[in-house]
Amino acid sequence: MLILGIETSCDETAAAVVEDGVRCLSSSLATSRELHEKTGGIVPEVAARKQVESIVPVIEDCLEKAGKTLQEMDAIAVTVGPGLIGSLVVGVAAAKALSLAAQKPVIPVNHLVGHIYGNWVDASDLPEFPAVVLIVSGGHTDLVLMRGHGDLKYLGGTLDDAAGEAFDKVARLLGIKKYLGGAELSRVASRCKENKLAAKLPRPMIDDKTFDFSFSGLKTAVKRVVDTGDFDLESIACEFEQAIADVLVSKTIRAAKIHGVKSILLGGGVAANKVLRERFETASKEIGAKLHIPPINLCTDNAIYIASAAYFNQMKKSLGEIVENPSLGIMD
Ligand code: KG4
Ligand code: ZN
Repeated sequence: MLILGIETSCDETAAAVVEDGVRCLSSSLATSRELHEKTGGIVPEVAARKQVESIVPVIEDCLEKAGKTLQEMDAIAVTVGPGLIGSLVVGVAAAKALSLAAQKPVIPVNHLVGHIYGNWVDASDLPEFPAVVLIVSGGHTDLVLMRGHGDLKYLGGTLDDAAGEAFDKVARLLGIKKYLGGAELSRVASRCKENKLAAKLPRPMIDDKTFDFSFSGLKTAVKRVVDTGDFDLESIACEFEQAIADVLVSKTIRAAKIHGVKSILLGGGVAANKVLRERFETASKEIGAKLHIPPINLCTDNAIYIASAAYFNQMKKSLGEIVENPSLGIMD
């Protein structure tokens, strides 16, 4: 089964062709990131206008690279939320237009569920259930118990800033980068030879019994250090990264133990973080759970995992049912 995926929830315009949910035939992506770098934050109107320009060329390019036509697609999958409304509308309108023209069903996909399926595409081994999933992106930090495709139970999530948001705000605070500086902050941290601030920052809610997170206090704690004007940049970046990793790993592993899962899955842009990946490798081995982390290009936003999520979730429903009831409301 061939699915054309479309993703426009934030500053990317992406399309991909995926076969049977696991083989990526092609992927195309345009981003308006450089425009938002100038303003130091995303301007929704600017993002949506750029997506209006990019959506048709991106879809054409991805079909051409796959060597397929629209008529050969079995369905069109599109992100319906969460995301910026003006941006989502561009993708959804394109999907509906293609659906109407080619008489193909549209499969609506939740962006966060999409992130999970980066673990199914071109993977050497597929995740086994039950699994605990940590979705860590710019807008979300969620722990989910996954008992099967379409069988997701929300365990907890952030009460304030998402992990990626905290990375970005701290990167800005430290003068590393104005917009989406998570990866750059991590690069600065990796140059740290000796963490002169070891254990100086809080690990918020690490001992709390719930599976909720809070990262805004951590950001404030960094600001207090910065305000003294006397700090080592590499040490503070390293200590911040360690604090985030400590909390994310500790809570995920506790959830994995309580639910006796076979697998631990990561998804979302922050899952590209090297320290987090290494810490999860060690911690998962210790409890005998198999760790799955998507390759970097499948951690950050793209349309490949949207097509994959659509495949695995529509298998539980018929395409006719999806057309009748266009909601993959599979977060309970
Ligand atoms: O999933 P994503 O591409 O977009 C959302 O759906 O939000 O995630 C983007 C987030 C940004 O906050 C970005 O700074 C962060 O992921 N990120 C990283 C790294 N690469 C991307 N954070 C820490 N370390 C990285 N290597
Ligand atoms: Zn995302």
